[in-house]
Amino acid sequence: MRALVVGGAGYIGSVTVDQLLQSGHTVTVLDNLVSGHRDAVNHDAELVVGDVRDEDSLARLMASHSFDAVIYYAGYIQAGESVLNPGRYFANNVGGCIALLSSMVAYGVGRFVFSSSAAVYGEPESVPVTEEAPVRPVNPYGESKDMVERMLPWHERQSDMRYISLRYFNAAGATDSRGEDHRPESHLIPIVLQTAAGQREFVPLFGTDYATADGTCIRDYVHVSDLAAAHILALERLETGSGVYNLGSGSGFSNRELIETARTVTGKPITVREEPRRPGDPARLVASNEKAKRDLGWRPAVASLEAIIESAWRWHQAHPKGYAS
Ligand code: NAD
Ligand code: UFG
Repeated sequence: MRALVVGGAGYIGSVTVDQLLQSGHTVTVLDNLVSGHRDAVNHDAELVVGDVRDEDSLARLMASHSFDAVIYYAGYIQAGESVLNPGRYFANNVGGCIALLSSMVAYGVGRFVFSSSAAVYGEPESVPVTEEAPVRPVNPYGESKDMVERMLPWHERQSDMRYISLRYFNAAGATDSRGEDHRPESHLIPIVLQTAAGQREFVPLFGTDYATADGTCIRDYVHVSDLAAAHILALERLETGSGVYNLGSGSGFSNRELIETARTVTGKPITVREEPRRPGDPARLVASNEKAKRDLGWRPAVASLEAIIESAWRWHQAHPKGYAS
């Protein structure tokens, strides 16, 4: 299959590109490198540097390639920042997808896999959350993912396009060659590991007064290689129909539990400074992954939080300055 991976120079996309190539697919990456890295893109993939919202360039790319499928990772990803700057999120996350979907319809590309998010659920009434739970985002980032999800069935009705929307919970961990390098980094695990490595003085712990057992937020961490594998399965599943799937481990860990696990894995002291809540943070996000297991045949292979953090720590030690090093 000839696949276009939009945002394939980023954290999750770059791992998926590796797996697509290993599975024998031909890959083109379109990425404007706003947060991705040239060095994260496998040399066996074609890299086109450009913005997906540049409609003329996109049309030229589509016309010259005859893609069978598009996997879409592009966008801004920080829920907290999206509360402070909603327009930035709607313009890129929704605007980029409108341009891409229109171009797919124009050039007859029939398979689409979308990086959605647990953020569409907002503050779920109960966890683990199933795909049938109400979609009620509590930040513009989650709203932007929901807006794209709601556009997809309309495109399906009007064209031959089928879609799979994958609602990731918290992507984490690393492979031997790819890891998490967002700048500025906003995610808990890399910040905790940078603190363990002495690159930061402390971990700011956002919110200790949530209605959880230890007062901190609970998240469901899923290894980046397991997320990537789900995209390969989704491409197969698209032969039979469209769908929406949660991708999470099914287990939740509080921020304090995660930091304690990182102390054990790294053997380092990790100083924490308690701070007020970050805007737009739900207290609990834990996936039911039963539907993805049943329909996609997906199973998270890296099953424990320790193993996820160990992989991230190995990558961090090998690349203390991220892709620059
Ligand atoms: P990332 O920032 O590492 O990757 C996004 C990539 O998209 C980057 O390479 C960036 O340069 C590119 N990009 C952004 N805007 C673009 C544009 N207009 N045109 C072309 N390229 C553009 O993020 P990630 O952590 O790999 O996340 C990938 C996707 O998965 C995102 O859509 C995110 O919302 C979603 N997601 C991530 C997580 C997570 O925990 N990281 C969880 C749920 C959903
Ligand atoms: N946190 C801290 N200190 C930090 C960074 C984070 O306390 O320095 C806390 C956050 O407040 C939150 C938890 O750690 O309670 C996890 O925060 P992250 O920023 O690591 O991740 P989020 O849960 O906010 O969001 C991530 C992705 C989103 C995705 C979501 C799905 O960034 O794209 O997971 O659950 F939608």
